[in-house]
Amino acid sequence: RNNRRVLEYHSDIERLNAPFLAIYESLIPTEEEKAKQKRLLTSLEKLVNKEWPSARLFLYGSCANSFGVSNSDIDVCLEIEDSDISKSEILLKLADMLHSDNLQNVQALTRARVPIVKLMDPDTGISCDICINNVLAVVNTKLLRDYAQIDARLRQLAFIVKHWAKKRRVNETYQGTLSSYAYVLMCIHFLQTRKPAILPCLQVEMHATYTVTVDDIECAYFDRVEDLRDFGSRNIESIAQLVWAFFDYWAYRHDYANAVISVRTGSIISKRAKDWTRRIGNDRHLICIEDPFEVSHDLGRVVDKHSIKTLREEFERAAHIMQFDPDPCVKLFEPY
Ligand code: GTP
Ligand code: MG
Repeated sequence: RNNRRVLEYHSDIERLNAPFLAIYESLIPTEEEKAKQKRLLTSLEKLVNKEWPSARLFLYGSCANSFGVSNSDIDVCLEIEDSDISKSEILLKLADMLHSDNLQNVQALTRARVPIVKLMDPDTGISCDICINNVLAVVNTKLLRDYAQIDARLRQLAFIVKHWAKKRRVNETYQGTLSSYAYVLMCIHFLQTRKPAILPCLQVEMHATYTVTVDDIECAYFDRVEDLRDFGSRNIESIAQLVWAFFDYWAYRHDYANAVISVRTGSIISKRAKDWTRRIGNDRHLICIEDPFEVSHDLGRVVDKHSIKTLREEFERAAHIMQFDPDPCVKLFEPY
């Protein structure tokens, strides 16, 4: 590119900052909504404690990791001592109690990969999923929330990417596209690898200030993120530039054949090093996103040979819009 093109590109892209920030702001849940969620959690905990006095409820997922947009469902984890009673029995008992307490649409899904009880609170209209002893999810929720506190651009980028993914229907794991959790990891990794970096790598590159062991997995990382507030300040890229570069990366630069993105190491690692080069069972490894704690877990495992095509076409569409469309903030989010 000659200098003139670069200049035009910059002035052009910068004009998108205000509209992207406006979209981000419009998606942030209100304090009132957060308070409603807390009240529901407290009343659910009271109910649970009637049967299990020492059990506790934790919020996890997007209502606790700071990547939740307004009107999201809430994800709750019931922490309960291992007793003689099985998870399914606990869920069925719980469903009974919730039903008697006048909660609506109560449903126990005991055979799901992560067994849950679903419910809707008629007072607040909030829908909620309750799982049992899913401590890893609580810990990865904290990791995401801690990353979000380091640089405001992470939350902005992730909101825009999640909003795009929902509108374009590529945020549906049962259809072979990616979870919200996977998209947030993609955003974190992307900001870790900007030059200069916008986010640090809190796991292998820094000493641990927080350590828990969950199901034999040691989860350890530097969590004093208030000390890292200036980390990204040497990089002055704007949100519009980052959205452009994010889609450009996933459309044209990511090495789908060989690369695994890893937030744990803050770098790309090879499929070969992880032995993710061939299909094993249902894991095809067509787009590889390493879970930061369950390192044998590829969050791209849900993607199959059809949905990889859909996903890559959507990345290309988004990159193309960011590059050439006169009004990207509208076109990008047009419903599929
Ligand atoms: P939205 O509900 O779409 O706003 O986002 P979310 O972050 O709540 O995503 P979702 O409801 O799909 O998942 C809830 C949480 O479960 C995530 O934030 C993670 O903490 C956890 N989670 C989801 N999928 C996985 C997975 O494949 N592996 C692990 N370890 N945790 C997961
Ligand atoms: Mg959720």
